[in-house]
Amino acid sequence: MKLIIINGPNLNLLGKREPEVYGSTTFEDYFKQLQQQFPQVELEYFQSNIEGEIISKIQKVGFDYDGIILNAAAYTHTSVGIGDAVKAVTTPVVEVHISNTHKREEYRHVSYISPGAKGVILGFGLQSYDLAIQSFLG
Ligand code: DQA
Repeated sequence: MKLIIINGPNLNLLGKREPEVYGSTTFEDYFKQLQQQFPQVELEYFQSNIEGEIISKIQKVGFDYDGIILNAAAYTHTSVGIGDAVKAVTTPVVEVHISNTHKREEYRHVSYISPGAKGVILGFGLQSYDLAIQSFLG
């Protein structure tokens, strides 16, 4: 089972960024925990602050890997391009958010990713990623 976590803009700052919303753990530390927790999964991690790089990564892995776990961060609410990439590939995409975006500003209530996603997990903190991996293990 080969899965990739793709994180969008500002998620490289997890641990430092608005800890009251996103927690105080860095993604690198959390990723190590995930690798230990799911030794049977070949787990990869990619982060970019650049929309086109996220699209290129989705295209690159999206006909080959078993699953994509995508937190497009702020691009979730703006990017027709990432939304189209999710629809274009054959690998199932699970959309993930750390915070419950529906409890937050109205502009975060819209997702351009969800229409192409297999499912959406949000609001469980970093555990949202954990749950996304479990969803692929069935
Ligand atoms: C986020 C929610 C987005 O609205 C925000 O722009 C982010 C992170 C989340 O994981 O809760 O950067 O995707």
